[in-house]
Amino acid sequence: MLKPLKIGNLEAKLPIVQGGMGVGVSRSSLAGAVAKEGGIGVISAAQIGYDEPDWDTNQLEPHMRALDKHIKRAKEISDGGIIGVNIMAVTNHYEEYVKQCIKSGADMIITGAGLPMELPQAAAGSDIKLVPIVSSKKAANIILKRWDKKHQIAPDAVVIEGPLAGGHLGFKPKELVDIDICAYDDEIKKIMEVVKPYEEKYEKHIPIIVGGGISDKEKMQHYLDLGADGVQIATAFVTTEECDADIRYKEAYINAKEEDIIIVQSPVGLPGRAINNAFMKRVKAEGRIAPKHCHRCMEACNPAETLYCITEGLVNAVKGNVDDALLFCGADAWKADRIKTVKEVIEEFTK
Ligand SMILES: Cc1cc2nc3c(=O)[nH]c(=O)nc-3n(C[C@H](O)[C@H](O)[C@H](O)COP(=O)(O)O)c2cc1C
Repeated sequence: MLKPLKIGNLEAKLPIVQGGMGVGVSRSSLAGAVAKEGGIGVISAAQIGYDEPDWDTNQLEPHMRALDKHIKRAKEISDGGIIGVNIMAVTNHYEEYVKQCIKSGADMIITGAGLPMELPQAAAGSDIKLVPIVSSKKAANIILKRWDKKHQIAPDAVVIEGPLAGGHLGFKPKELVDIDICAYDDEIKKIMEVVKPYEEKYEKHIPIIVGGGISDKEKMQHYLDLGADGVQIATAFVTTEECDADIRYKEAYINAKEEDIIIVQSPVGLPGRAINNAFMKRVKAEGRIAPKHCHRCMEACNPAETLYCITEGLVNAVKGNVDDALLFCGADAWKADRIKTVKEVIEEFTK
């Protein structure tokens, strides 16, 4: 019998968090469906307004409008379920995104792809739950120490994302060669030890949620046995009817073979995992694909030098232009064999 996942005063019936997936892969349809089934649904804030009419000309408003729309819609679909928003730390206007999530009624903010040092300040005065994503003991130490010293606060939960995850990865490229996933259990235990003193100091339980490569029930049980309170699963939800991406994105997972899944360098400055499609082969052959138009989505990106435009690649993915797309995926994406419903996927993990 699976235990519910309690994060402060929130309680999800199932210890499953659906990982946020940008651009547009997890918006209200997927997040709402997962939350309705008793998990925690997570909307990705990354370029969420990519299909708003003024997206090309306006850096902020289309995204704030789309965030509001999708948070409210996911809440409605979920029928009282828990909805979080994933905001990457590298996002331009990070603080405005946080404030919009609070205003629109999201239950939690989850931040990875960088260290969310100023998240507590951006969310001050609200009881929205704050959840950093870390991949190492070192990152956990830095964030928890800073939040404690500067903001007198501890996270409401911590997501530990391992090396088999999809999207951007918090590892050096050399750590992603011949991954020994069993060895990563030691790092998970070390991160749990980093969190413990803050539980004592703030007199609250800080749930640990482990993600990355959890593609079946046995893997989920492994992390629960290791002491995790819940798991974060993303890739397995891409090939669902409710996933917000175009059907051709989902078919790319179904058609992928294990050897088609590679580590790529992302303009964010982190390695990522994706399908080795025509686009990735072109980047490799040509060295660089210059952006057509810059959306100023990230502080760290220089459009004159970037290898390719990540926003262009990810928007092409969600729209189904798969040959011109960056198709992010987890290491087990090749295991997908058909389109399922969210209910079916959740039952496979829980029944
Ligand atoms: C298509 C895709 C897009 C993703 N986008 C994001 C993102 O925008 N922000 C983020 O923090 N994590 C992102 N991730 C990581 C997931 O949220 C999740 O933690 C991870 O993929 C879990 O591993 P799994 O996919 O093997 O289940 C993405 C993953 C995938 C597969």
